Amino acid sequence: MTQDEMKQAVAQAAIDYVVPKLKSDDIIGIGTGSTANCFIDALAQHKDKFQSAVASSEASADRLRSHGIEVVDLNQTGGLEFYVDGADEFDPHLNLIKGGGAALTREKIVAGASKEFVCIVDQSKQVDLLGAFPLPVEVIPMARSFVARELVKLGGEPEYRQGVVTDNGNIILDVHNMSILDPKAAEDQINNIAGVVTVGLFALRGADLLIMSTPEGVEVIKAD
Ligand code: 5RP
Repeated sequence: MTQDEMKQAVAQAAIDYVVPKLKSDDIIGIGTGSTANCFIDALAQHKDKFQSAVASSEASADRLRSHGIEVVDLNQTGGLEFYVDGADEFDPHLNLIKGGGAALTREKIVAGASKEFVCIVDQSKQVDLLGAFPLPVEVIPMARSFVARELVKLGGEPEYRQGVVTDNGNIILDVHNMSILDPKAAEDQINNIAGVVTVGLFALRGADLLIMSTPEGVEVIKAD
């Protein structure tokens, strides 16, 4: 099975999990990235089963609209039933690193506004300890150098993601070689640096359920 086939398989497994639970007035949150794209494409044939969607990026909003799925502003909703999104890494407690696609802040907002966060990944994202994937941090542009120096003090090696401007008009620092022994504490600590919009650690609000695709089939892991 190729990685693309694994992404499609896990997207279909998420459809099988989410769609039967949907009510016609439900609004669902949709993530960003290649796995989320597979989910969006598979969701298109079920668009009569829910009301609309909130997207975590302009790219996902465009893709949803291209399938005729209504996209609404989060402020027009009273909260979302599900949030379905991929991840760059996950650990055994379903703490995540996200933001490889630079959508981490909106992803964290939409995840926070959702009753259930269903994370969809292929097995290449599974780790014992987070941090092999460079940790994305969204930063207000004028704070770039200051935040980078603060991240060095925390033991990381920040690298400016050249040419990337987030949907919110900010920049991304990717932090290499960061030792993330306590993901919740690290999330708090990095979020507290002035100029940081958000760090791509999803530990304070991790996934509730993770569906992982392997060449042998799909595995479901629930948060402890
Ligand atoms: C985007 C993300 C994505 O969920 C993450 O990068 C995984 O992407 P993919 O499904 O393409 O591997 O956090 O900001």
